Amino acid sequence: MNKTTLVDDRELLTKLWTVCEQLLHTDDYKNSYARWLSEALLHDADRSITIMDTAAGVGFPSQQLFAQGFENIWCSDAAPDLLRSLIASGGGFGKTAPVLCLKWQDLSHVIMSRFDAVLCLDASIGFMDSWGAEEMVTGPDAICERVREVLQNFYTLTKPGGRFFVGLQKNNNRKNTERYVMPVGKATLDGHTATATWDMRYDWPARRKTWLNLVEYQGKLYEQTRYSYLFDKHELAGFLQDVGFTDAREVQTPDFFYEDVIVAQKGGFL
Ligand SMILES: C[S@@+](CC[C@H](N)C(=O)[O-])C[C@H]1O[C@@H](n2cnc3c(N)ncnc32)[C@H](O)[C@@H]1O
Repeated sequence: MNKTTLVDDRELLTKLWTVCEQLLHTDDYKNSYARWLSEALLHDADRSITIMDTAAGVGFPSQQLFAQGFENIWCSDAAPDLLRSLIASGGGFGKTAPVLCLKWQDLSHVIMSRFDAVLCLDASIGFMDSWGAEEMVTGPDAICERVREVLQNFYTLTKPGGRFFVGLQKNNNRKNTERYVMPVGKATLDGHTATATWDMRYDWPARRKTWLNLVEYQGKLYEQTRYSYLFDKHELAGFLQDVGFTDAREVQTPDFFYEDVIVAQKGGFL
């Protein structure tokens, strides 16, 4: 397998994400998202369902689901520094169920429990080999295979009859052939003005997206270039069926969400 090693600074990514996350996840966004997700999750179930949030980061959207009465939420993420913020966030969240520092690539080998709902939201999936400065594979076939390997782990974690929820940035669509500039937001954080812009470049043949993260905070301009694998929601639905989900379809989201959400069903009975 052809691999390239990324050398960007992980600490800087955490710092920039901590700012961007607050600009993106305004109270309005979080509350609307949690209402939307809670309706999608309930679907003939009740709030005691078991949920595994595999891209928990600093806690969105599980923290908001917890506040709505979903208590059986396990959290995992590969970034220990983000999980530390989640645990520190208080209100009991992150204390009633395990919080695990795990890569998606290892999840199904380590966790023997199976869940009614498995989440990989907040447009995280494309970063599977790049968020923590690990190794990306190159070449379209190797990338598609890599995505399937990780989705297979999510499939294993899902109970028969359960569902997997996965989000993909809305700008990952074929209309964006070269470049898309997304204003992330502007706000006062800890008494300082913060603004952020994401400048994204698309290389569809190579299935690689370049993400230039520009953040102004505390009077300084930070910039960092990161990468993610590039595929659209139709391809993602196809990958989900390839790994065994019996159905994978988009659930309509409000226009102001920055991600599309695909829900995949695992066959069998709960
Ligand atoms: C866009 S952020 C979303 C974070 C989260 N929703 C939050 O509130 O902070 C993407 C997340 O995916 C996680 N991630 C990326 N690749 C991963 C992998 N291979 N295994 C586990 N987590 C991963 C990152 O650590 C990061 O927390």
